[in-house]
Amino acid sequence: MMRKKRGTEMNTIHNRTTPADALVIFGVTGDLVHKMIFPALYAMVKRGVLNVPVVGVAGSKLSLAQLNKRAKDSIKQAGKIDDRDALDHLLSLLKYVGGDYNDLGTFKAMKQALGDALRPAHYLAIPPTLFAKVIKGLGSSGLADQARVIIEKLFGRDLASARELNRIAQSVFPEDSIFRIDHYLGKEAIMNILYFRFANSFLEPIWNRNHVASVQITLAEDFGIKGRGAFYESAGCLRDVIQNHLFQIVALLAMEPPAYQGYGAVHSEKTKVFQAMRPLQADDVVRGQYTGYRKEPGVAKDSDVETFCALRLFIDSWRWQGVPWYLRSGKCLAATAAEVLVELKPPPQRLFDDSAPVDGRANYLRFRLSPNSAVALAVRVKRAGKEFVGDQRELYLLNEQPGEEAPYERLLSDAMAGNGALFTSSLMSWNQPDKVGTLRLIPGARQDRLLAA
Ligand code: BG6
Repeated sequence: MMRKKRGTEMNTIHNRTTPADALVIFGVTGDLVHKMIFPALYAMVKRGVLNVPVVGVAGSKLSLAQLNKRAKDSIKQAGKIDDRDALDHLLSLLKYVGGDYNDLGTFKAMKQALGDALRPAHYLAIPPTLFAKVIKGLGSSGLADQARVIIEKLFGRDLASARELNRIAQSVFPEDSIFRIDHYLGKEAIMNILYFRFANSFLEPIWNRNHVASVQITLAEDFGIKGRGAFYESAGCLRDVIQNHLFQIVALLAMEPPAYQGYGAVHSEKTKVFQAMRPLQADDVVRGQYTGYRKEPGVAKDSDVETFCALRLFIDSWRWQGVPWYLRSGKCLAATAAEVLVELKPPPQRLFDDSAPVDGRANYLRFRLSPNSAVALAVRVKRAGKEFVGDQRELYLLNEQPGEEAPYERLLSDAMAGNGALFTSSLMSWNQPDKVGTLRLIPGARQDRLLAA
């Protein structure tokens, strides 16, 4: 039988949903792979969805035995090794290529390691400054034909650099072979926002400027940058989690119903939300930095990179005109939690003395995204007794389901299967971070207060 050759002619008949027959992980010795990716690969093997060679690539000289040890340590740290066969199988799939990304020899060695594989998925778990270089290397070494590329964040630093990276990626890969990861989109609790909004009928009549007073989205973490100084210095809170993770949440909450059942329709409705966002003004943004950040390894002594950011957004659409959206996130805060709070307007007539908003909050809908996943509706109910007074109580629905796929497990297997539903598209771009970069930073801001506010 004639061996199929890599080549552009094959592209024309390549089915975009044909599963990848190898996974290449650039940056296999990095932090992200150690914390998240090895455990995800292990879970994928356990589920039976990973059974192709996994080629790790990195700059260091490493033996396969050393890579195996890293993989085992990582899986152990993430939980316990409860399936020896799955672990052994994963290790049997691993290969390693060490080399400089500037050197074409590294790509040649990868080609060799890929053997008969024709449709690899290349996952770029590397610093963003290397994305363009690796993508071009894949293109010029023939490793992009029929392949997919999965790109980590940050996808550019601003509009111009995001466009440039897009241009480079699209000059090497067709758009439907480019998978831009935002791991929040792989979270069950986030997918539930889309489902909850459009699978229920009670919400739609109140989901607009007439009934919603404000929307607050919080991603708080009680830990610091955990040794990621070099990365964090190039990112800051706004680029690290707000323009991607929190904005995706905004889009899911604010979008109109998709026109048909399909992710193309979801992407296009989300894009309209970004298009309707009002440009931020200086007083819409607060940036803060936790005390001690400048002493972290890899951080400049006079760094003005923000580790906390809060912003107020407006979406100038028919549905949301005038409703403030408050987004905030930060490191070293009082708690670790992510949630959405949609506060409703009080009843038009105050029939009872203790009606909202006098006594605490008005009604609200709360999506708890992590650490546990829940949905709660806060309502007032009457207290027993002669008086018409009551309390704010939550109808609380814990929505944790055992056996949920972790985000990276879901996203990597989707990308390998050619399913781009949970990835961001090139349509979704936003040009605010540039402007925010010039804003004043509040060193050691009392973030615990801000969080509690
Ligand atoms: C990552 C950021 O994208 O998201 C981290 O780089 C942040 O700084 C993390 O801690 C939060 O994700 P999760 O899934 O832990 O809420």
